[in-house]
Amino acid sequence: MKMIVAVIKPSRLDAVLEGVTEAGASGLTVTEVRGYGRQKGKTEVYRGAEYEIKLLPKVKLEIAVPDDVLQPVIDAIVRTANSGKIGDGKIFVLDLEQTLRIRTGETGAAAIAG
Ligand SMILES: Nc1ncnc2c1ncn2[C@@H]1O[C@H](COP(=O)(O)OP(=O)(O)OP(=O)(O)O)[C@@H](O)[C@H]1O
Ligand SMILES: [Mg+2]
Repeated sequence: MKMIVAVIKPSRLDAVLEGVTEAGASGLTVTEVRGYGRQKGKTEVYRGAEYEIKLLPKVKLEIAVPDDVLQPVIDAIVRTANSGKIGDGKIFVLDLEQTLRIRTGETGAAAIAG
């Protein structure tokens, strides 16, 4: 099992949610965050004007997936989050040691099965 952490543009959220659900994600967590990449937030156009902004609004997705769903979900994020412009975001993949569905006590892949 893996934990996918993806930081995307807020404007792409709806498309990404649809894409990852179709790709097999059974659940996910969304958080509004701020961040910067290698441009340090300085060259992205924000609300029509260029400002020297250090932290830009982004959306963070956390998606726990079984191994066979990892690549389809990554592909879906790349396809739906990509505008071809700077600031489209990043995907990080972490090993996931354990999961547990609180209601049933199921663990492992069963706890994140749809
Ligand atoms: N090394 C990193 N560690 C953690 N978060 C990061 C890292 N790089 C980028 N992020 C997060 O991803 C968001 C989007 O990054 P961004 O797409 O601008 O990356 P980039 O490397 O600058 O690529 P690009 O040149 O396409 O803009 C950042 O605002 C930040 O929240
Ligand atoms: Mg950038």
